[in-house]
Amino acid sequence: KKPKIAVIGSSSMDLVVTSKRRPLAGETVLGESFETVPGGKGANQAVAAARLGADVHMIGCVGDDSYGNEILENLKANGVNTGYVKPVTHQKSGTAHIILAEEDNSIVVVKGANDCVTPDYVKEALPLLKGCDLIMIQQEVPEETVLETARLCGEIGVPLLLNPAPARELPDEVIEKAAYLTPNEHEAGILFKGLDLSKALSDYPDKLLITEGAAGVRYHDGNGEQLIPSFSVKVVDTTGAGDTFNAAFGTAIAEGQSMKESLRFANRAASLSVTGFGAQGGMPTRDEVERGLAE
Ligand code: RIB
Ligand code: NA
Repeated sequence: KKPKIAVIGSSSMDLVVTSKRRPLAGETVLGESFETVPGGKGANQAVAAARLGADVHMIGCVGDDSYGNEILENLKANGVNTGYVKPVTHQKSGTAHIILAEEDNSIVVVKGANDCVTPDYVKEALPLLKGCDLIMIQQEVPEETVLETARLCGEIGVPLLLNPAPARELPDEVIEKAAYLTPNEHEAGILFKGLDLSKALSDYPDKLLITEGAAGVRYHDGNGEQLIPSFSVKVVDTTGAGDTFNAAFGTAIAEGQSMKESLRFANRAASLSVTGFGAQGGMPTRDEVERGLAE
């Protein structure tokens, strides 16, 4: 049976410049290309989960502008239910300003309409949320929304997958209430305020999943630390790899796959996503991941 997943989160337009290197402070450099592609961590996770076969419902906000229309159309085209994606008039659509440089990317996110994904707005979606197998959220929406969502998930008994990106500190209550937390090493450092990450992993077995990029993902299974290695591929663009990982993990776990299987599935999906340009370019279908796993 298709798992039913609600994604509470951001949807944005990514404004992507490719440049050999990023400018230093006060400097101008000539870049190679410019593209606008749909992004935002919430929308990326929703699209990735839909391509993997989940029944996905996005809860988000867009501006009443052309980017907002494109964002909505793109969600629909990917099979995401958009009944709870609200156009707002007093904020522009969220944007992410991305420099894809040879060394690495850098991103400035302007949340815009994503700030309208408030605790009250999430509560409006309660009838939908109650019937879900999993709820997913990230941190491009207000902090109070993450807290309220964690509380609601506790009340209605639906597991919460929190991808604590971009990095910020969180109340302990959220860490306790989330079923799964998926920071990268940098985000984990901020979340656990300098606590040794091995200690954090053993404190939260089968919950804390620390992603280590090309190396894979680390967690504690109650007996010991486990590293589920990633797959090596030719990298075109790593933007959105984390989102694909989260969506694939969430889909697999909501289907009832084991932790280990779900993480292997997630690693395979994420490794495929980096082979295409743009956050959602390269995000694989179910078949592509299954073929990849069988290789
Ligand atoms: O996780 C990748 C996303 O983060 C991009 O699509 C961009 O919107 C940034 O917010
Ligand atoms: Na990609």
